[in-house]
Amino acid sequence: MTTSRERALGADTVRIEGPAKVTGTAQYAAEHTPAGCLYAWVVPATVARGRIVSIDTAAALAEPGAVAVLTHENAPRIEEPDDPILGALRNDRVPHRGWIVAVAVAETLEAARATADAVRVTYATEDHDVVLTADHPGLYAPETANGGYPGSRERGDFDAAYAAAPVTVDVTYSMDPMHNHPMEPHAAVARWHDGRLTVHDSSQGSTVVRETLAALFAMDPAHITVISEHVGGGFGSKGTPRPQPVLAALAARYVGRPVKLALHRSQLPALVGHRPSTIQRVRLGAGPDGVINALAHEVITYTSTIKEFVEQAATPARTMYTSPHSRTTHRVVALDVPSPSWMRAPGEASGMYALESAMDELALAAGVDPVELRVRNEPSHEPDSGRAYSSRHLVECLREGARRFGWRDRDPRPGVRAQGRFLLGSGVAAASYPVVLTPSTAEARAAADGGFLVRVNATDIGTGARTVLAQIAADALHAPLDRVRIEIGDSDLPRAPLAGGSCGTGSWGWSVDKACRALRSRIEAAGGTLPAEGLSASADTTDDVQAGTEFARHAYGAHFVEVQVDRDTGEIRLRRMLGVFAAGRILNPRTARSQFIGGMTMGLGMALMEGATIDPVAGDFPERDLASYHVPAHADVPSVEAYWIEEEDPHLNPMGSKGIGEIGIVGTAAAIGNAVRHATGVRLREVPMRPDRLL
Ligand code: MOS
Repeated sequence: MTTSRERALGADTVRIEGPAKVTGTAQYAAEHTPAGCLYAWVVPATVARGRIVSIDTAAALAEPGAVAVLTHENAPRIEEPDDPILGALRNDRVPHRGWIVAVAVAETLEAARATADAVRVTYATEDHDVVLTADHPGLYAPETANGGYPGSRERGDFDAAYAAAPVTVDVTYSMDPMHNHPMEPHAAVARWHDGRLTVHDSSQGSTVVRETLAALFAMDPAHITVISEHVGGGFGSKGTPRPQPVLAALAARYVGRPVKLALHRSQLPALVGHRPSTIQRVRLGAGPDGVINALAHEVITYTSTIKEFVEQAATPARTMYTSPHSRTTHRVVALDVPSPSWMRAPGEASGMYALESAMDELALAAGVDPVELRVRNEPSHEPDSGRAYSSRHLVECLREGARRFGWRDRDPRPGVRAQGRFLLGSGVAAASYPVVLTPSTAEARAAADGGFLVRVNATDIGTGARTVLAQIAADALHAPLDRVRIEIGDSDLPRAPLAGGSCGTGSWGWSVDKACRALRSRIEAAGGTLPAEGLSASADTTDDVQAGTEFARHAYGAHFVEVQVDRDTGEIRLRRMLGVFAAGRILNPRTARSQFIGGMTMGLGMALMEGATIDPVAGDFPERDLASYHVPAHADVPSVEAYWIEEEDPHLNPMGSKGIGEIGIVGTAAAIGNAVRHATGVRLREVPMRPDRLL
């Protein structure tokens, strides 16, 4: 028994649902087609700001197969949503281009699209303002940034300390908007039956989708089921409920038949959130040894007019390095743009791009090796909060990464290594992501035949969550993995938080572990003979998750990259990327490695390719497909390696794990920019680092 306990957790178990996925039998939301199902297609606003004057649906309804066109004039009334992005069809207001102004419903997908195309909307337009500038008159200091962090923090006397510092850098970085673009676009299928509502939705957390639908339709949540069994990625864009389950349910109620609403990829940029642009000024004042005495990180960003979303990019600077005098601020302006939202490591990915690039600039200014500079600025406790770290092994990540990468042999001079027409360079950057643990519930049952069933409304968005939870259960039950069956992805299961904030495995796993341990106690008390109906136990971690919060808890990592820069075309290509992470106990090395290298690859996209523009005239994104919005392909990543160090931290959860879904993207873009500087001598302070920006 103890041998299976040792083996389940930490084993490189293959994904439970792998065969179903590769054989195509795993069903995603849009693949469910109930009998009599109709198809919906959304009509996006073509103006950036204004009001709907009239909607002419006569031609649309004359299309073959057309069934209905829902508009703000005829759609069934729903309650006011907490999240304004769910408020389409409630009134005549158009807050941004791409806002949904009508939903066409027809017998086939093609007919729905043709019906939508034939809807004629007349608008009264108003002047719009969609361009972020550092001196925008509408900028204000928000009370809080995302995550509930204070918008501004000040410690000591930054201005005096900076003015007195012998070595300073004062640099500003900017970043284009970025889109999540999961493989599976957002989709929902809604069906009303016997006073109940069942929705298949592509979501990172169906418990909240159910509660949101219950509030909007004024229903008992017990009468709603939301299923997200398989989800083809989200990266935050499916973290909070999106319009598709609401509008599918609304349309299904209106027409009295099931309705499928699958957003087209071209509709995602305006409807499912994006990482907003940031303009980030970083000032570092240090001694001749590179030890920082003054640090300022001032972030300017935008939100939409309907929602305050403040990318918390200045928050990593509150926890990363020694900084006796510190100023970290956010300012935001509400523009007539689609609402920005969560995108993998929101705040950390953007903020650490600037901070870790500035650290490289400080290393050059002080003449200190960039690995050594970070080691010298290692704080003894979290600077802003004064809390002790539960565990912090950034230095070990840097040292181990340097060793594996071969950093010691690096010639620090820029622009002196060439191979044919390529200039070569290497760079380093640190990574950090906070530990988030959210209350969760779970249930475990033992059948008389020795099998176990574990139920928790976790969501597997491609991470391997289902598999790791089964490992956690087997470990807690002291049972072989193949005796454990796990059910996730259904809001009728015990309630659980979303797959987001890198909190999923730790949060769900805690409740699974607790339920399974309780069940094992009951089995042992029963003396090994189970009653015919079996035994069960349930768990709720609401009180447990408070433990350890007196510590500053973060995962850490270090990225090392090598780039080549074509001196004729300015094209930057990765030669290799190597990351070393310290993220508590690694529960499944196979799926963990995929998480790390997936994040690193997305960081490569952020550095070199991914960038959208907001058209100042039209008011939204011209890049609305994967031909115009580039993401990395395999050929862009010739060598990517992820390692981790064994980290024991008793202040986390019973498994001893930190989240790993997001840290891989944090710092990657800075490491690449730092390598480009090393290769060429040119410092780019804007991502993506396209050839036209380098030449
Ligand atoms: Mo992630 S952006 O917290 O889903």
